Amino acid sequence: MIDITQLLILGAVVALGYFVFNGSRHDPREPPMVTSGIPILGHMFGMLWHGVGHWGNQAKKHPEQPIITLDMFLTKFYVITSPDLMQAVQRNAKTLSFEPLLLFGARNISGISNPKTLDILKEIDAGGQGLGSKIMHAMTPTLVGKPLDLMNIQMIRLIQPFIEKLGETSTFDLYEWCKDATMAASTEATYGPMNPYKDKKIQDAWWDFETGLGVLIANTLPWLTARKPWKGRQKVADAILKYLQEGGQEHGSELTNVRLKVSMEGGLTLEEYSKLEVGMLIAFVSNTVPAMFWCLFDLYDRQKLLGEIRKEIEANAIVVAADGTHSIDLTAIREQCPLLLSTFQEILRTRSNSSPTRLVTKDTLLADKYLLKAGNTVSMPSIPMSQRQEVWGETAGEFDERRYMNSGEKKDSRRAGGFLTFGLSPTICPGRHFASSEILLLVAMVILRYDISPVGGVWKEPAKDTSSMVSIMGPIKEKFRVNASPRKEYAGVKWGFHVEEGKGQFPLVIG
Ligand code: HEM
Repeated sequence: MIDITQLLILGAVVALGYFVFNGSRHDPREPPMVTSGIPILGHMFGMLWHGVGHWGNQAKKHPEQPIITLDMFLTKFYVITSPDLMQAVQRNAKTLSFEPLLLFGARNISGISNPKTLDILKEIDAGGQGLGSKIMHAMTPTLVGKPLDLMNIQMIRLIQPFIEKLGETSTFDLYEWCKDATMAASTEATYGPMNPYKDKKIQDAWWDFETGLGVLIANTLPWLTARKPWKGRQKVADAILKYLQEGGQEHGSELTNVRLKVSMEGGLTLEEYSKLEVGMLIAFVSNTVPAMFWCLFDLYDRQKLLGEIRKEIEANAIVVAADGTHSIDLTAIREQCPLLLSTFQEILRTRSNSSPTRLVTKDTLLADKYLLKAGNTVSMPSIPMSQRQEVWGETAGEFDERRYMNSGEKKDSRRAGGFLTFGLSPTICPGRHFASSEILLLVAMVILRYDISPVGGVWKEPAKDTSSMVSIMGPIKEKFRVNASPRKEYAGVKWGFHVEEGKGQFPLVIG
């Protein structure tokens, strides 16, 4: 039986197919076509059962092929698993481009429908005015250095009450707690004190939108076929519009103000900008929440490693004030806790299911060998890449918390280009430093102050929501109930955070 989540995936693939449709036949110079059992619709059904994991599964069935073609009915997917071909994709960034996906997002995720506006947002090479990518580029400098640390200062101020509450709560859902903490901290750090998401009803409406995106994205009579996420999107867009009309942005972050300025200069209306903002929050929370959850899960599940990391933070990243307050220092977490940072990246490597995607905007001969035809999609699934020994060495299939440590007991065993959790250059996640600050500060304080154990006593992986269209970090689809108890080592201690302005950046690996 096909269930609703599988229909969601189907809707998304059909939508992308229509978006890029070129109706072309297979050319013998294209990468070898692999078929699955059922003619024509086989790969569509594969997607229904396995989500985006289907690409990786197909690639694994053909290990001798560095690139394969999957016929997805209205479009073709070229699936790459070879590091050399990934580098060839990077060399052809002009014709294998991420940019058209921004327009797809504006139309199918944010619901912008005015053809004139879509033309403004469309990439310049396709005859548009390129506003979509101008907005993205304008954000990048606001997510490093001083503006980032100003956001970090707000973020931790808002996250700490959630950590304090753990001492008072008995059994709770750890995933829901990560959601609430991330949502509160990320939105207020961005939008300032008039943050429209302060209202729980707006938060709930946004989650209706996010979790129902698989149907909404098909953009086919959405008020009928995807009523709940469609209504949720409108409700949040209205709240953002009200925030802007009341001048809330004047107290918001540089990130918010830069996006607004570029959008207004580019010719968007406030209503259209508000709709784009609803989609923007996906970047802020949809990956951060599950990443935070898996960091806590993987650390508490490894008691020996947990003990070592606690010691590292205690030795290097706690400042004790004259009144006894213990503060966790962000700069020291970045620069003097190599085991924590390495473990964090290994959790991202082993838990993520990213698949950097590019659209072929012009016929391209990849590595002088494979013809990629315009209108089709290139996908580079991280799972087969994260298991390749030539990329990660003999321990590719193992969890190695010291993999990214450059000195002392462990050599650096990673190879350039294999770490795809934050995307593939030149499209690399600009929010990775903010996400890392948020996750690592929270994790550092929680593990020092609390012991956490799951109800039932076993850290058994909860089922993942493989149908998510927007998260590559394995969001879960069931409750995960735990108990937290304050550690006696810190009984009666007052806690805080310390963030120094102006340094904001992590030494992270990127693909
Ligand atoms: C653990 C958390 C996060 C992960 C794993 C993650 C991952 C990614 C990935 C894989 C991409 C590239 C997509 C592709 O190539 O197909 C991306 C893009 C992006 N991310 Fe993140 N992200 C995270 C958190 C954030 C945060 C907190 C923000 C905002 C502050 C953010 C903002 C963005 C934006 C704006 C883009 C689009 C970049 C562009 O179009 O050039 N991300 N992210």
